[in-house]
Order: sequence, then C-alpha cells, then structure tokens
Amino acid sequence: MTFYEAVRPLVFRLDPEQAHHLVARGLGLVDGTPIERAMGAALTVEDDRLGTEAFGCEFASPVGVAAGFDKNAEFPSALGALGFGHLEVGGVTPDSRAGNPRPRIFRLVEDEGVINRMGLNNDGARVVGDRLRGRAIDHPVGVNLAVGDHAEDEPAAYRESYEGVAGAGDFYVINVSCPNAEGVRDLQDREKLEAIVETLQDAGAAPLLIKVSPDLSESALADVVEVVEQFDLAGLVATNTTTDRPEGLSGPTEEAGGLSGRPLADRSTEVVRQLARCTDKPIVGVGGVFTAADAYDKLRAGASLVQVYTGLIYRGPTVARSINTGLLTLMERDGYESIDAVVGADLE
Ligand SMILES: Cc1cc2nc3c(=O)[nH]c(=O)nc-3n(C[C@H](O)[C@H](O)[C@H](O)COP(=O)(O)O)c2cc1C
Repeated sequence: MTFYEAVRPLVFRLDPEQAHHLVARGLGLVDGTPIERAMGAALTVEDDRLGTEAFGCEFASPVGVAAGFDKNAEFPSALGALGFGHLEVGGVTPDSRAGNPRPRIFRLVEDEGVINRMGLNNDGARVVGDRLRGRAIDHPVGVNLAVGDHAEDEPAAYRESYEGVAGAGDFYVINVSCPNAEGVRDLQDREKLEAIVETLQDAGAAPLLIKVSPDLSESALADVVEVVEQFDLAGLVATNTTTDRPEGLSGPTEEAGGLSGRPLADRSTEVVRQLARCTDKPIVGVGGVFTAADAYDKLRAGASLVQVYTGLIYRGPTVARSINTGLLTLMERDGYESIDAVVGADLE
C-alpha cells in the first residue's frame, strides 16, 4: 500500500475543492525549493526510452498534467518534480473569473470518476502569463486558452486570452470543449473554429493545438481534423470531460458538469484512435489515465503524449512515477525501444 492509499480516506473526507487547495498549497510551498529537487530525485524516472519530441518540444516523459490542475501556474515546477514530462496550465480567460458557485466538484469514488462544473475560474491570462514569464521551468509548459460564456466576439476573446500569455508557453491549446461555460462547445463548429484559429495565428500563437470534446460525432471530429490540416496546426488534445453519464455509475451522477476519470477512459481512447486514423499530427491523449496500461492503450491508439488529472486525485503524487516505470516494463515486454515505436502500434 502506498502512503497516499493509506491517507486517501482522510483526504476524501474533505470537500474535493478544499482537498485540491490543500495539495496546491503544499506544491506551491515546495515549488522552486531544495525540497523540490529531493522530490524530483525520488519521483522522476530518468530513462532515454521515455523521451519523445512533439511540435518542436522535447519531453523527458510522455506523461503530463492536464489543464485545470494548475490553472493559475502556481506550482508548475513542482509538478515536474512529481515526474511529469509536461504541464498544461489554464484554462485562462481574458479577465479573471470566479467560476460557478460551490460546491462544483464531486467524486464518484466507486467508479474512480469526478464531475466538475468549475466554470473556468482563473486569475486571468495576463496574471498567469506574468507568473510564467521569466521562470526557467525544466519541462514544456502549454497554456490552455479559453473564453467565458457567450463571449460577444469569440475570436477576439481568444486572441485576448492569448495576448495575456504570449511568450509564456511552449505550446498553446484552444479549449473549445469545456462543457462548463455556456456555448463554448458550439465553437467546435467548423466555421467558428476557422475564425478562431485564423485570429490566433494572426496574433502569432504557435505551436497551436485544439482540444476536443469526447461527445463529438465521428464526422464532427473529422471536421476538426480538417481545420487542423488546413491551418497546419501543431496537433490535437483528446479529450475534455463528457456530459454523458454512462449507465451503471454510482454516486452523485445527477450533478451537472463534465465527467472525468475511469468512466471516460475508453471513450477518450476511441476518440484518439479516430483522430489518429485521419491525421499524422501529434495527439495528446487524456481521459482516465491512472496506470501504465491506461497510458499504453492511448499511445498504441495513436497518442504521442498523455495527460493526467483525475488520476492524481485517485492515485496521488506517485502516479507519474508508477506510469513511467510501468511503461518501461510494458515496452520491454513487447520489444519497443522508444515511445515513438509504441505510438499508433494498434493502428497498423
Ligand atoms: C476540476 C477540473 C478542472 C478542469 N479544468 C479544465 C480547464 O480549465 N481546461 C480544460 O481544457 N480542461 C479542464 N479539465 C479537463 C481535464 O484537463 C481533462 O481533459 C479531463 O479531466 C479528462 O482527464 P482525466 O480523466 O485524467 O481527468 C478539468 C478537469 C477537472 C476535473
């Protein structure tokens, strides 16, 4: 039993958002300190076979932290010390937002899921950008670009989000898939998406990726891929949370919001597979990655990188180490010398 498994019942007695703040406070305290270096030594798996390159960035591990965990870039370096190879901060919006009233995160403990309706609470793009700029961080940092509910001129609002963080990220992700701000998911519609991409490219945003919803149909996903190809974007992130409630879940399933974690794993892997069949652009696979086997499934389905959010809640601070170690074991078992060799292995 890991230390986290032992203390998890205590953590789970706290309200989920309170628990997150506690963890965030702890990580904020060690960020950039000698403790962080000790943590890094204990939790980082250094092995060249885990290294990979995508959209011009070098990753020491294919396992990163998904958007929403460090929304405000308050502990970006400490997350690297937990063994993650990259981090996506944000979503950031042009101005700071308080988000929805609490409670707004709910655990589905039996199914290892979470429902959240945070509503894009964040300090605002400029504040987050200032926090990141000028910091030397060892791993690539992406910034999740968002807008609030029903922005009047959506492309202009995305541009404002970008301008606040320009130069602060190694890559930028257009979040048109958040189910918790009204109207945002409609922006995956082809014409709207084209207008947003055009405006962001005009502003100089690159490398630029699009994050999709798991609730898109196969033809809607194909449309998004066409936009990616048409504008020669850097890649895709698949997926955000789902508004679907698969049958048989227990817990507070009636709560409004996006479902993440174990119940999302298969659907998000399926979306990765569908996208990988239509494009050679790098795909970041996210949704229900808890173990090395989960990460391996997504890589084999065509993801070049994977990300974790809910896995951190259920598996704790050693989750990246255990995924990285387990990936090496699986690669040895199957005779793969590099992550690149694993990517898309199931597609052939
Ligand atoms: C509390 C919470 C907040 C999130 N905030 C964002 C966000 O701001 N932007 C975004 O693109 N995704 C956000 N996500 C979605 C995650 O980045 C990820 O796509 C999703 O949770 C699926 O991964 P998981 O199953 O590993 O959690 C959030 C998820 C959670 C649970």
